[in-house]
Amino acid sequence: MKKYYETKLAVVTGGASGIGLALCEMLLSFGAKAVIMSDVNSDNLTNQSARLDSAYPGKMLGIQADVTEREEVAELIRRAAEFGAGRIDFLFNNAGLSLAKSFDEATYADWKFAFDVNFYGALHGIKAVLPIMRAQGGGHIANTASGIGFIPMAYQSMYSASKSALIGLTGSLRYELWDENIRFSTIIPGTVDTPMWEGKAPDTAITPEQSARGILKGVAANERIVIVTEPDRIGAANAFRPETAKEMDEYLLNVARKRQKLQQADMKTVMSCITEQELKRSTQALLLANIPFETRKLDDNGIELTELQVSDDIFDNACDVIETFEDTIFDDQDRPREKCPQCGSTDLERRDDFDCKKSITGISWIAQCRDCGRLIPHH
Ligand SMILES: NC(=O)c1ccc[n+]([C@@H]2O[C@H](COP(=O)([O-])OP(=O)(O)OC[C@H]3O[C@@H](n4cnc5c(N)ncnc54)[C@H](O)[C@@H]3O)[C@@H](O)[C@H]2O)c1
Repeated sequence: MKKYYETKLAVVTGGASGIGLALCEMLLSFGAKAVIMSDVNSDNLTNQSARLDSAYPGKMLGIQADVTEREEVAELIRRAAEFGAGRIDFLFNNAGLSLAKSFDEATYADWKFAFDVNFYGALHGIKAVLPIMRAQGGGHIANTASGIGFIPMAYQSMYSASKSALIGLTGSLRYELWDENIRFSTIIPGTVDTPMWEGKAPDTAITPEQSARGILKGVAANERIVIVTEPDRIGAANAFRPETAKEMDEYLLNVARKRQKLQQADMKTVMSCITEQELKRSTQALLLANIPFETRKLDDNGIELTELQVSDDIFDNACDVIETFEDTIFDDQDRPREKCPQCGSTDLERRDDFDCKKSITGISWIAQCRDCGRLIPHH
């Protein structure tokens, strides 16, 4: 598969984080001539493109662009082609947002924004790059959708609808432009542990690198729909089969009811996090204690913060859990403790039987104090 990318030029939108970032890095490691990393997030873009530029000098160009802005996408493609001396071999329309809200809460502005990012973002890219790909005699456009595009879930109607639309667009153009040697693939990247999950990715989530490898393999094979993981393959196979309709109803209704419960609960803010560190630790604490919570991003007079909310009935417990976690894991110098924070004993026993949910909590193992029984998580 490496051969497919060697000496080629690729543009990746949403390239400064998660799956997009892994795609940029892997394409360069496969010998791509150049990769244009584009993102709306200028800090991530500056940092990540500088990092890859020093690893692959002269082969990385970072260009800031908001995919919802047609003119910015056109300018991105123009500058990318200039960097590639007129050529663009691949366009990965990867930028996207998850946008979970109840249908009642979602305003028309929310709906417009969802389609602007997840659907029109890719459409703008396709429109801008087609003349270049036609002129050079071909190219490949990969549009990142989601399993939710064919298994739509409750409280994700904006995400489901915008990603389904993208699947439709990609499938249709694949055949409309086939004879012009312009290839189209839909990407279903799997459940991937990226910042999109805000630290709450399920245990089964794969890494961005695993996803990128699957994507590049499928694109190199010119697959119509690149489905990276087995669960998504099963989901895709069952999505529209009459034989599995009842089972799907049961499963999706169950998901809907669980989410409904969280929506209806009287939620209270257990922690307002300003720094990444605060957010990471509090999230880890709640996940480790199996406490269900929601995150809400806010802008409080220019200060961006994330509130962690739990339902009223478990509020006190959640406060305790966060507080205990703080002084359990870290000492005054912010280093993991090697002594029991409760009794000071250094007689700690490693408990490998404890499920730490490492991919979510970042905690590798748990020790237990032999003297007082206190559990002490370690990274
Ligand atoms: N992570 C998953 O489990 C998962 C599952 C299915 C589909 N996806 C899709 O994969 C793609 C990548 O997501 P990820 O998980 O790597 O998330 P991520 O949040 O790590 O990366 C998304 C990137 O897109 C950028 N972006 C958002 N809006 C943009 C805009 N208007 N213009 C330009 N860039 C913008 C963000 O700044 C971010 O860098 C998305 O399309 C997402 O919907 C992800």
